[in-house]
Amino acid sequence: MRRNESSYCDYNEAFKVYDQLRQPNAAEEIVQIFKQHEIALNQQRILEGGFGTGAYIDFIKDHVKEIYGVEGSEEGYGQALEKMNGASNVHLQLGNILDLPFADDYFQGYMINQVLHHLDTDPSFPNLNIFLNEAKRTLQPGGTLTINTNSQEQLDPHSGVYWNYKYIKTAVLTLQKRYIPLEELVSRLDSLGFTNIKKSIPSRRIYHNRYYEDPSIALETHFTKSDSVYSFLSEKAIEDSNASLRVAIEDGSIYEEMKRSSLLAEEMGEVVIISACKAD
Ligand SMILES: C[S@@+](CC[C@H](N)C(=O)[O-])C[C@H]1O[C@@H](n2cnc3c(N)ncnc32)[C@H](O)[C@@H]1O
Repeated sequence: MRRNESSYCDYNEAFKVYDQLRQPNAAEEIVQIFKQHEIALNQQRILEGGFGTGAYIDFIKDHVKEIYGVEGSEEGYGQALEKMNGASNVHLQLGNILDLPFADDYFQGYMINQVLHHLDTDPSFPNLNIFLNEAKRTLQPGGTLTINTNSQEQLDPHSGVYWNYKYIKTAVLTLQKRYIPLEELVSRLDSLGFTNIKKSIPSRRIYHNRYYEDPSIALETHFTKSDSVYSFLSEKAIEDSNASLRVAIEDGSIYEEMKRSSLLAEEMGEVVIISACKAD
């Protein structure tokens, strides 16, 4: 594994289909959080770490003065460059968010979206500390950090918000270990002197509509290739989970599962944003 890539998923493959399935569902909330800074958002310089195919930058670029991005996947970088269509306030580069190529106190805002769980394989999450220290170094005093991630409850294969997780429980249990519990994340932010630590829940959905309507989507390789949780399964294990899913589609029980997950998602959201400020 190169250090600037996910610790378990080949995003050069996943990104070939990623945008067909996912949408930047937390983007509006992140804009609102950045707007709370004393400098108007259209005068702010913002960074995204691990920007993937650039969906968040594409949404946010028209609200800010300048936006920078650092990403480990060449496929993601290439797709993001195309999306930006030469926008002069967007500055993208390949690199590692654990070693940012920027001066101290450079940004008013820094966001990462669904990246944290890719940084560490060690259960004590040492790279998380490196990431947080880099965020603290590169943010100006008073600057805002937003971390879009998941709670353990959202990911739970039995009582969480993603209906397909019920059919790939062993992979989900491995995935859950890659997510630091939110209380521990908050405690690390607090120890580093970040202030105004808050949790918000975006109301929009992470997938395009078909995921919520048609369970056969999870039988398709473009879906399993786009979601890093399937990287923890062998081809054989994916076939076995597909067999169980086919039975649930045939007997109709999947639709109850999908309804239950949607109701839970309305209560607990599909992702969580933890935001914090670098102390003045
Ligand atoms: C789940 S994808 C999220 C992509 C994008 N932020 C989004 O929400 O659409 C995780 C991304 O983090 C990137 N990544 C993981 N570790 C990284 C690192 N150390 N430095 C830079 N990028 C990293 C991966 O290449 C991948 O693009």
